[in-house]
This record gives sequence, structure tokens and C-alpha cells, in this order.
Amino acid sequence: MAPTRRGGFLKVLLLENISAAAAQAFRAAGYEVEAHGSALEEPQLVEKIRDVSVLGVRSKTRISAAAIEAGKKLVAVGAFSIGVDKIDRAAASDRGIAVFNDPHSNSRSVAELALGEIILLLRRTFPASTEMHAGVWNKSAAGAHEVRGLTLGIVGYGKIGSQLSDLAEAMGMRVVFYDTAHVLARGNARAVEFRELLGMADVVTLHVDGKKENQDLFGAEEFAAMKKSACFLNLSRGFVVDHDALAACLKSGKVAGAAVDVFPHEPESGAGFKSVLQAIPNVILTPHVGGSTEEAQQNIGRFVSAKLLDYLKTGDSTLSVNLPQCHLEYEEGSYRLMHIHHNVPGILRAINDILGDRGINIERQALNTRGNLGYAIYDINRECDAELMTELRAVPHTIALRAKGC
Ligand SMILES: NC(=O)c1ccc[n+]([C@@H]2O[C@H](COP(=O)([O-])OP(=O)(O)OC[C@H]3O[C@@H](n4cnc5c(N)ncnc54)[C@H](O)[C@@H]3O)[C@@H](O)[C@H]2O)c1
Repeated sequence: MAPTRRGGFLKVLLLENISAAAAQAFRAAGYEVEAHGSALEEPQLVEKIRDVSVLGVRSKTRISAAAIEAGKKLVAVGAFSIGVDKIDRAAASDRGIAVFNDPHSNSRSVAELALGEIILLLRRTFPASTEMHAGVWNKSAAGAHEVRGLTLGIVGYGKIGSQLSDLAEAMGMRVVFYDTAHVLARGNARAVEFRELLGMADVVTLHVDGKKENQDLFGAEEFAAMKKSACFLNLSRGFVVDHDALAACLKSGKVAGAAVDVFPHEPESGAGFKSVLQAIPNVILTPHVGGSTEEAQQNIGRFVSAKLLDYLKTGDSTLSVNLPQCHLEYEEGSYRLMHIHHNVPGILRAINDILGDRGINIERQALNTRGNLGYAIYDINRECDAELMTELRAVPHTIALRAKGC
């Protein structure tokens, strides 16, 4: 049966051309879906969001406190992307609205682009192509290399770095990596110290995460520590690299080529992009498209819609970026209550007292807290009615309450 609230279908609003896989998943689960190709400005969003239970966006729509306030029926927001910077998460948390994103599904796309760029840099393909476009035929092997047998140094051996490790080894590269966390080497890859990696790698590629400590991780000193004529890639975050230092090393020949996908200042879209790396030969510049493939979009569409549907059905908040992570094994037909509250003492006792006074048995329960939020999931032995919902909502410090079937 289709999920309903007070007799109407729950509505899902998907913006920014989110993969059709998401709309299909919601429709198959019985939701009413409205999908738009573009982002909405705040006034339109405030208008549209009023009867929406689930909102899906990518990276352009700003979800302000005003939009969240207008979304009186809003239960969850899905960011079909990695970034959640444009969502006012504090306002969402204040209303007990879960926010989900997808930090994984485009990692293969980034790894593949990095591998392709390594080959193109070592073959000096872009300068040759630029010359050809200008009518110059310059057939030369000078400075062009196979990747086989060369050493790739991966800084940041997480989801992307480790996949690139596999791909590079398959091409016959020797892989060394440095990660601040203890991570398992894949294949024949070898963990080394940061400075050691810089001194031995023919290609250095950055795949560190975006924590603020990584600001200016790579500057003049680190470039100086690299092997002469090595190549350099950054597909992680723009603020990690000093672009002036990179430009100077490219011009001096210290660095033989670079591929850069991320920049300290990235415009929203359109003309006017400026970088000190422009017009330097053997430099591949791409507009933060490492993870932008149709396959990644489909995977993200499937992943985020599955997380949202699971949250709607079972309350599972695992991987939510703002709610406490809470999961209670779900059995079809359970009578489930999901209670989000301020993280203060005595809430569970108050709920348990209400249930106990009505002779309702708690079959299982789970609680977790995160900052000033608490989230409890209960399975009880009978369907909850409107009166019970009213009583539970009146428990002091309650932020939001949902129950299956109410
Ligand atoms: N270009 C794109 O379109 C695109 C797409 C997806 C992800 N990214 C970016 O790529 C980066 C990597 O993504 P991921 O999914 O592999 O992240 P991840 O969290 O899985 O891996 C990052 C790894 O870097 C390590 N690390 C952090 N700081 C380090 C440091 N100073 N030195 C060495 N290791 C360090 C961490 O321990 C972790 O293992 C992120 O910054 C992400 O935002 C870019």
C-alpha cells in the first residue's frame, strides 16, 4: 500500500535533474514525485516546499532556514551529491529533519579520470593537441613516457586513492602511498612517509579529504621535495594546494606537468574563470568534474533514494549528516515510533511512562545522541492512535515524532 499521511500521498520534490533512478525508486514505493530539471531560488522553494515530505537537491539549490521553516511536512532532505554546504543543517536539526548525502558513489569516476590524466601528462598529449589545433605538426618522442614501471605516489589513500592504486597497478605502475590514518595497502602498493613519497614518485597525486588542517598542505616546500620533472595532480580540494607555487614550478620545469580539477575559488558557472595555471603548457585544467559522470549520477540517485526510503520506512538514520545515527532491526508489520528530541535527561523515562500507563509493551528500542539531539526508535505491541501521538508529542523537549501508519 502507498505511504500516506492524513489520507494524502506523501510528496517527494526532486530538483536539479536528479537521476531518474531516484524518481523511479520513490514512485515504486508509492510516493508522489514532482521532478524539475533546474534549481529553485528561495522564494519559489518556500512556495513549493509547503506540502513536500522529502526534498532532493544536488549542489545548486540553497536550502535556507526560511525554506526549512516553510516545509511544515518536511521529514528528510537528500543531497544527491557529496557537499551539503548549501543546506542549513542547523535549521534542519532544529526541526528534526534528517539530511542525507552520498560521499561514495563517484569515487570510481574520479579514480578513472586521474589515471587517464596521468597517461595524458606523461605523453604530453595536451601540448601536442594544442599545437595541432594551431596547425603545427610536431612529431617527437622527447619528454613522452610510458606509465609502466614508473612510481605513482598517492597522498590520501581513502576511497578514491585506493581505487586509483588498483587501476595504476593494473597499468604496471609501482604504487606508494601516504595516509595519516592507518589504512590497508592494496595489491603490491606500499605505505611510505610523506617526504619519502615526494622524493621517489614520478607522479604525485592528492586525494586527501577536505578537513581544514589540509589547507595549504602542498606548497613551495613540498614541490621542492618532489623529483625533478615529476608530474602532479590534484583532484581533491582546491585549498590544499598553493597554486602560485605550482605555477612557478611548472614554468621552471621542476614539475613537468599538472592536472588540476579543483580550485581555491570556483565560480558557480559560466565565463570569467581565472587561474595562475592558465596558458602553461602540459597543464590539464578541468572544472571540478572528477566525479561528474552519468554512471556516478545514477549510482548517487539509487544510493540517496534508498537511504531516504529506508529512513522513511524504518527510521534508520545511519549515514545521516545531522541526526544521531540510530538503527533498529526492522520486522515487517512492526508498530514503530520514531522520536527526535533535545538531548536532555529523562526523555526515555517520560515516553516509557506514557506507554506503560496505557499497557503498551515495548518490544525493542534503540537510542542514540549527537550534540544536542537525541533520537529513539521504538517497536511497540500495537498500532499507535492519534491520542497516543498527541500525548507523546507533548513530552517536553520533543522535536519530531513519526509513527508508521499515523
Ligand atoms: N574532483 C571531484 O569531482 C571530486 C569528487 C569526489 C571527491 N573529491 C574529493 O576527493 C578527496 C578524496 O575523497 P575520498 O572519497 O577518497 O575521501 P576519503 O575520506 O575516503 O579519503 C581521504 C583519505 O585522505 C586521508 N588524509 C587526510 N588528510 C591527509 C593528509 N594530510 N595526508 C595524507 N592523508 C590524508 C584520510 O585519512 C583518508 O584516508 C576529497 O577531498 C573529496 O572531496 C573530489
